[in-house]
Amino acid sequence: MRVPFIAGNWKMFKTKAEALEFAEEFKKLYKGTDVQTAICAPFTDLEVLVAAFRGTGIQVGAQNVHFADNGAYTGEISAAMLEEIGVDFCIVGHSERRQYFGETDETVNLKLKKLYEGSIRPILCVGESLEQRDAGKATDIVKGQLLADLENISAENIRKLVIAYEPVWAIGTGRTATPQQAEEMCAFIRNTLIDMYDEDTADEVIIQYGGSVKPANATEIMNMDEIDGALVGGASLKAEDFMEIIDF
Ligand code: 13P
Repeated sequence: MRVPFIAGNWKMFKTKAEALEFAEEFKKLYKGTDVQTAICAPFTDLEVLVAAFRGTGIQVGAQNVHFADNGAYTGEISAAMLEEIGVDFCIVGHSERRQYFGETDETVNLKLKKLYEGSIRPILCVGESLEQRDAGKATDIVKGQLLADLENISAENIRKLVIAYEPVWAIGTGRTATPQQAEEMCAFIRNTLIDMYDEDTADEVIIQYGGSVKPANATEIMNMDEIDGALVGGASLKAEDFMEIIDF
């Protein structure tokens, strides 16, 4: 059985002091749940969050990583650096990185492979734009991303993968995919994994929905059979809202 997994993606929000303030507030609200919980924060917040959440079960994720072990890559952070801090997860291939920072399926694939050399679990983001959906190409786009992003990654590693289906048109727009649209694509993603690997392997993969998830729609989304969790942007910035989502 897959354990539901709800992660916050803070994007470029919260200084270290603000992260610590959130952690203290969130720890007071958090009573432990059956839902796996993580906060994916800016690099500068990771160390304080790992320390603040130690022993609580709340996990910590980064939002990006470089695919090289080390080298002359000004401004970049390696998987070993994240691993040493005690980071549990790392988002890879978020649409904002694909759109604004030249992330490609090829770099996503290299980053996944690098993370799999260590113990940090990747959260791979896939999803189509509005134009692609309107042209009836949503499933083709997502399938293409999965085939390219997961090229030459073993079934053993795939079992540790989290996939977030994030339709680009639903991110930060207040326009959520309907639970049915999200459900259909999450089912399509699992079927694609069955074709690429096998049923047992595909069964282990946690598939999240992301895009304008908030307290008001979390229950409906989380109750869908094919959706195992959520990747929450804006609504993860307030401890009370994020707690309400986890308590869906
Ligand atoms: P919002 O929840 O703010 O729409 O962001 C979704 C997202 O991009 C999470 O990674």
